[in-house]
Amino acid sequence: MAHTVAIATLGLTQPVNIEHPKISFTAKEIDAVEWKGDILAVGVTEKDMTKDENSKFQNSVLKKIDGLLGGLLAEVLSEEDFTGKAGQTTVLRLPGLSSKRVGLIGLGQVASSPAAFRGLGEAVAAAAKTAQASSVAVVLASSEGLSNESKLSTASSIASGTVLGIHEDNRYKSESKKPKLKSVDILGLGTGPELEKKLKYAEDVSSAIIFGRELVNSPANVLTPAALASEASKIASLYSDVLSANILTAEQCKELKMGSYLGVAAASANPPYFIHLCYKPPSGPIKAKLALVGKGLTFDSGGYNIKTGPGCSIELMKTDMGGSAAVLGAAKALGQIKPPGVEVHFIVASCENMISGTGMRPGDIITASNGKTIEVNNTDAEGRLTLADALVYACNQGVEKIVDLATLTGACIVALGPSIAGVFTPSDDLAKEVFEASEVSGEKFWRMPLEESYWESMKSGVADMVNTGSRQGGAITAALFLKQFVDEKVQWMHIDLAGPVWNDKKRVATGFGISTLVEWVLKNSSK
Ligand code: BES
Ligand code: MN
Ligand code: ZN
Repeated sequence: MAHTVAIATLGLTQPVNIEHPKISFTAKEIDAVEWKGDILAVGVTEKDMTKDENSKFQNSVLKKIDGLLGGLLAEVLSEEDFTGKAGQTTVLRLPGLSSKRVGLIGLGQVASSPAAFRGLGEAVAAAAKTAQASSVAVVLASSEGLSNESKLSTASSIASGTVLGIHEDNRYKSESKKPKLKSVDILGLGTGPELEKKLKYAEDVSSAIIFGRELVNSPANVLTPAALASEASKIASLYSDVLSANILTAEQCKELKMGSYLGVAAASANPPYFIHLCYKPPSGPIKAKLALVGKGLTFDSGGYNIKTGPGCSIELMKTDMGGSAAVLGAAKALGQIKPPGVEVHFIVASCENMISGTGMRPGDIITASNGKTIEVNNTDAEGRLTLADALVYACNQGVEKIVDLATLTGACIVALGPSIAGVFTPSDDLAKEVFEASEVSGEKFWRMPLEESYWESMKSGVADMVNTGSRQGGAITAALFLKQFVDEKVQWMHIDLAGPVWNDKKRVATGFGISTLVEWVLKNSSK
């Protein structure tokens, strides 16, 4: 019998293997008031709350429910000052309905964006948790006006919001409650194979986002570069019909002359691993070749330029592999979705940025795999050093487009705050594609300038460049540095997700980037 050898973890921590019980989603066309189950959740806009001259709801769904409750719904809502604003939720437990509880969830003035309906799903999940509900139905107070296309996307946004809202990462807790929610019926948004397909897609992407969140939540003593590489290999073998894995050791990276990446890895007792997954469709011709490159620092101490002082957040630097989590999450989703006509390379130069006698010193000159030399004037600007060799490697795969994702700079958080990612690209076409994808996913991006004149501060007296420019415009000079390692013929985009990778309030990872990347790859496929 085959047996696995457990890897001894510093601190003896092993994540508990928790099964996420699957929530089943079903689209139904039945009257909301006839639905039987634990919570009937109604999404209402501020407009839906309008009353007629007799102080009765004009909206037909609300009117019906209120009628069955003898006017109690209107009464409670006005007592609680529920106006349908986004973020408002009221759940009532009253006799008179076929469902146990009725929940009203505010959608704001007009709900039309994927983000608003994902928010509805999240509110449904929160209500289900509080009530310990196992069955829930979701209906919009007004869904009549929606086109078939928007019904599909609304249903899928609600479904992903619910799955992601229910998810809690309890793998590192000694005790945890199992989520109770088993089934969600989506009412009034149509039925049929097209909708079923959309819901399946939402589930595939959501499970990939959960996988990405778990990677980022995992501490650096558990998620070493070897562990990250092994997670990547697992994805490839799970979807071996479309994915293959090639994991390079430090020795192999040395043969490829990746001095920039290996310089960062040099202080660490945990060896680096260079991860390369490749997606090829099950059949048919390939029209587009893409690469997704992710920063994979499983921990960033700063190196000799150690992260000290207030606000440096050294204790959060397990999240410095958030770019790689987005890339591997996208690989997992695409392994399930299997789009035709597109080849995708997933590339992560994973390592730790530590301190030791074998480590890089400030002032050292290192040589990247394209031959360019770098004077390391700050060992804490390490992400760009690993990405340099990863980008050269990506260009060598013969791809037409590259998107890299990295928790690259604190400066980008200063510029855009905690929930918006910075986008840097010389290509308006690629920008258009990715921004269109983000409109579907609901994730927030903002395009930043690649101001060439700022390269001035990146000049070295002795090497081709330094790795750190002036404090001003730090996210821009970081992007300009990456540009040195990209073939001019390749369309390239850099996404700095240092802010949105982490939810400071909930103290957990967000899974940011995955849904947008999957949408973008599908845009480039021949689906
Ligand atoms: N991983 C950090 C960036 C970061 C900071 C991510 C805060 C998430 C939260 C990156 O390696 C880094 O240290 N960047 C330096 C660059 C500087 C030395 C030019 C920074 O932003 O301070
Ligand atoms: Mn750093
Ligand atoms: Zn870093």
